[in-house]
Amino acid sequence: MMYIIDTANLDSIRHCVEYYPVDGVTTNPTIISRENADFPKLIKDIRSIIGADRQFHIQVTGSTSRDIIREALAIRDFIGGNLYIKVPISAEGLRATVELKKLGLKVTETAIFTQQQALIAAKAGADFVAPYVNRLDNIVSDGVNVVGEIVQLFKEYNLPSKVLAASFKTVEQIHKIAMAGSHAITISPELFDTLTYHPMTLYAIDDFVADWESVYGKKTILEMFEEHK
Ligand code: G3P
Repeated sequence: MMYIIDTANLDSIRHCVEYYPVDGVTTNPTIISRENADFPKLIKDIRSIIGADRQFHIQVTGSTSRDIIREALAIRDFIGGNLYIKVPISAEGLRATVELKKLGLKVTETAIFTQQQALIAAKAGADFVAPYVNRLDNIVSDGVNVVGEIVQLFKEYNLPSKVLAASFKTVEQIHKIAMAGSHAITISPELFDTLTYHPMTLYAIDDFVADWESVYGKKTILEMFEEHK
C-alpha cells in the first residue's frame, strides 16, 4: 500500500520524507490555503523536497472542463515530475478527465463519496479515485465499506484505476482501509507519527537498553568493534 502525506506544510513534508517511507504528497485548495503562501512557489518547494519521482497530487480550482484543462496544463508545465492532477468529481470534471488523459496527464478524481462516482471516474480514465473515509463515517455512512466495494468493483470490471483513500482521523480507520485492499492512503503528518507509536514498543526498547547497560555499561557496539581492531 502506498503512503502519501496530505499536507502542503514544508516542515511537515521534510519531516515525513526524512523519517517515513513516503510515496508522495496530496494537496487540495483547503490544504494550500492553510499555508497562506504564493501557490507556484509553494508547489515548487514541495517538489524540490520530495524529488521528481514521488507522486505529487495537485488540485485544480476551475469548475468548467475548459478551465480545469488549462490549469492542469499550466501546473504540468510549471512543476513537472510524477504529477497527478486532482479533479473533483462532477460532469465538468469527468469531461476534463477524458481530455486530460488524451493529453497524457495523470488524473486523481477526488471528493468521492459513493461507489458509483468512483466507477464512473474510473471509466473516464482516472488513475486514482479518492474516497473520503472519515467524512463518510461522520454522516453515518461506512467509509471502510465504501472503499472495500470500490476496490471490488475495480477488480470485478478489470479497471486499471487505483483507490487513494483520503480523510482519516484514526489509526483504526487506516488499518481497516488497508484490510479492504485500498492501493494507497493519504494521511496527515500527525497520523504518520501516531501510526508508528505504541507504548509497549517504548517499554520493550527501554528494557533492551537497561539489559545491555546492566552488563556492558554505556559501551556501544561500535566501541566494542574498535577494541577488536
Ligand atoms: O485529501 C482529502 C482530505 O484532505 C480531506 O480530509 O480531514 O478534511 O476530511 P478531511
